[in-house]
Amino acid sequence: MGVKCKPIEYRWDGALLPQFGISAADIDGLYPRLLEIRDQIFAHELPLYESGGAVPADWQPLDAGFIELPQRLLSQYQAERENSELGRILACAKRLRDQVDRVVVLGIGGSYMGARAILESCCQPYYNEWSRAERGGRPRVYFEGNNVDNDHSQALLQFLGQGRVARGVEDRWALVVISKSGGTIETAVAFRQFLAALKSSLGDAQERLPEFVIPVTGESGKLASLADALGCRERFPVPDGVGGRFSVFSAVGLLPAALMGVDVVAMLQGAVAMNERFRTQGLGDNPVLDYTAVSHLAEKLRGHHTRILSVWSKSLEAVGLWYDQLLAESLGKHEQGALPLTVVNTRDLHSRAQQHQEGRRDKLITNLILDSWRYDALTVGSSVHDQDGLNEIAPKTLPELMTAAIAGTNQAYREDGRLTADLHLPAADESSIGQLFQMLMLATVVEGRLLGINPYGQPGVEKYKINMKRLLA
Ligand code: PA5
Repeated sequence: MGVKCKPIEYRWDGALLPQFGISAADIDGLYPRLLEIRDQIFAHELPLYESGGAVPADWQPLDAGFIELPQRLLSQYQAERENSELGRILACAKRLRDQVDRVVVLGIGGSYMGARAILESCCQPYYNEWSRAERGGRPRVYFEGNNVDNDHSQALLQFLGQGRVARGVEDRWALVVISKSGGTIETAVAFRQFLAALKSSLGDAQERLPEFVIPVTGESGKLASLADALGCRERFPVPDGVGGRFSVFSAVGLLPAALMGVDVVAMLQGAVAMNERFRTQGLGDNPVLDYTAVSHLAEKLRGHHTRILSVWSKSLEAVGLWYDQLLAESLGKHEQGALPLTVVNTRDLHSRAQQHQEGRRDKLITNLILDSWRYDALTVGSSVHDQDGLNEIAPKTLPELMTAAIAGTNQAYREDGRLTADLHLPAADESSIGQLFQMLMLATVVEGRLLGINPYGQPGVEKYKINMKRLLA
């Protein structure tokens, strides 16, 4: 494939320390099974998915389409440019950029978490607060349709100027509505409400409504029918065989990302590079297999059923929440599956670390660490008022403080026999995030196969929906 990007790195040597009860022999013993699963994915599952052949009952659903999706989109873009799907996504984002200053993205679960994770990790902090010029003319982005929270919906509608006619670009807004099934109640209700508001914001120009509504949905379903009825000028598919929480590299994640000016090509290239590593590398340089091996053995041999993703940057919190959903909905089946939990440090050293240090020994802590920062390093600085005693560390920078906090925390955990591993990202940028998303999606599939759980589908989620509909009827 030859895609060059700075690789993310998973360091798990510490897991083999004698106090953790996992030995090199345990890892070696698991390795052949992991390779078998990898072979099964590439030799059977993917070809079956791609041929559209009949999927055996115990493999259904088989949503393996996410694996080759990044490469498919890139190849098509290279060959067909503006006529390709990625070309259309970029063109749509550019058009909206020129026409509106705010975009409301409606969606929930897999139709929401990925886009939010991209915004928070790849865009500058306080993105929405910057002026239009500082945002490079890109629209502010707001997420809704991910709840039925009266006050948040009302507040956003008021903020958008409910009842007021937009006078120009600065005032105008658009809706991106994302739902694979097209029937999810939270998103559907929000769409109805925000569509009405958008219509009134257009005043006498209501015939332009379809220009400002971009649906991302499956081929058929209620949202697809609504899009037809409204005459939406542009719409994007959620491909069949790509499950909601595996859909971040479809228009579900890419359209909001392109709106925010994220380099979606670099992100897809990152995902392709991770595929390549997964396909070709052995244990030790294969983050997918390495991470799965350590996580699985920690659970099986040490009873570490809680899986903590400890992110050492505020920018990565939503990435952690995206992973919480991926792991919980994929493997939380048949009374199995680890409990995911994202913590943001150093913030949560002051809320959760006590329990991680001295609580029940049921936690695997994976640190997600940035190796570089977007902005220049900020020093502590010296002061004539040294009552706080900080002059001693005056030349130190925030990145240095962070590095010391990570090392100090890891050391404290290890000295008490608490298992940690480190996942290093070169930066909070498109390439790293692309690699990370793909790594965690692949690892979830591999682990599902290892546990004998189908990682795709979420039959349990349907139960609350049935009850809720009955109660509302
Ligand atoms: O992973 C999944 O499939 C779910 O989390 C869905 O993304 C979520 O339920 C939203 O579904 P839809 O996109 O159909 O509105």
